[in-house]
Amino acid sequence: MAGRLQDKVALVVGAGSVGEGWGNGKAAAVLYARERAKVYAADINRPAAEETCGIIEGEGGVCTAGSVDATDSASVAAMVDACLAAYGRIDVLQNNVGGSEPGGPVEMSEETWDANIDLNLKSAFLACKHVLPAMQRQGGGAIVNVSSVAGIKSVSGRNMVSYHASKAGLIQFTKAVAMQYVKQGIRCNCVLPGLMNTPLVTHRIARQYDDGKVQETIAKRDAMCPTGKMGDAWDVAYASLFLASDEAKYVTATQLIVDGGLTA
Ligand SMILES: NC(=O)c1ccc[n+]([C@@H]2O[C@H](COP(=O)([O-])OP(=O)(O)OC[C@H]3O[C@@H](n4cnc5c(N)ncnc54)[C@H](O)[C@@H]3O)[C@@H](O)[C@H]2O)c1
Repeated sequence: MAGRLQDKVALVVGAGSVGEGWGNGKAAAVLYARERAKVYAADINRPAAEETCGIIEGEGGVCTAGSVDATDSASVAAMVDACLAAYGRIDVLQNNVGGSEPGGPVEMSEETWDANIDLNLKSAFLACKHVLPAMQRQGGGAIVNVSSVAGIKSVSGRNMVSYHASKAGLIQFTKAVAMQYVKQGIRCNCVLPGLMNTPLVTHRIARQYDDGKVQETIAKRDAMCPTGKMGDAWDVAYASLFLASDEAKYVTATQLIVDGGLTA
């Protein structure tokens, strides 16, 4: 089945990937294009967004790459303007930007706390602030926020207080936006990935939590999963696709857990 996003425009924020392979935003952008959406792929790392676009165009899809700092309002406004200039509308907004920082309240600096809350929570706030007026004018749209199971449970046994707090905040942010716009045809949902094997694990998590020992990090994370293996970016992308598509027309304010049973 293809064409689940036929005639739609999808803005994916954080559409690159921190390293080689498939991150959640990159996979979502490519999958949306395969389902015939026109994609605007934005990332703070422009070459990463361009790489995603290159994959899409190589498969015959339509994509525009842009740079954005998702934590900066002027930058987000410019991204939204550029997307509207390119395609005239925004039907799907995927807020994928995020990441964790190690530490509890005592170890973590105030600067790290502020920056991490901005990365995981303000990024979605700003994108919604600038995209919702366009969706209102169009009479509808679908927002997919990428939260985490860390927003409902401490699964990894690691101290990352700002990540837990901001991903939990994103879940309630999602519900608040969903209910405010429920009569206007705008749906807002979130996906809660569990432990996924994305480039973030090899590039950032291994360094932050395991002294750069990548194989050890992968083995530990696999062992924590009930299936014996982490999920991957496509698992998150397919769940997002459902929420982004009209198949989910009666689904709003919800959280779709993609964790292989980890939180059960
Ligand atoms: N990988 C996992 O196990 C996992 C689990 C749960 C939730 N998540 C969530 O999934 C999302 C994406 O994770 P991923 O594994 O694909 O990570 P990733 O780091 O590969 O992708 C995130 C992208 O966002 C971009 N980005 C970072 N800061 C930005 C900013 N300020 N403005 C614009 N772009 C910015 C990065 O350049 C990168 O291309 C995050 O929100 C993360 O918290 C991941």
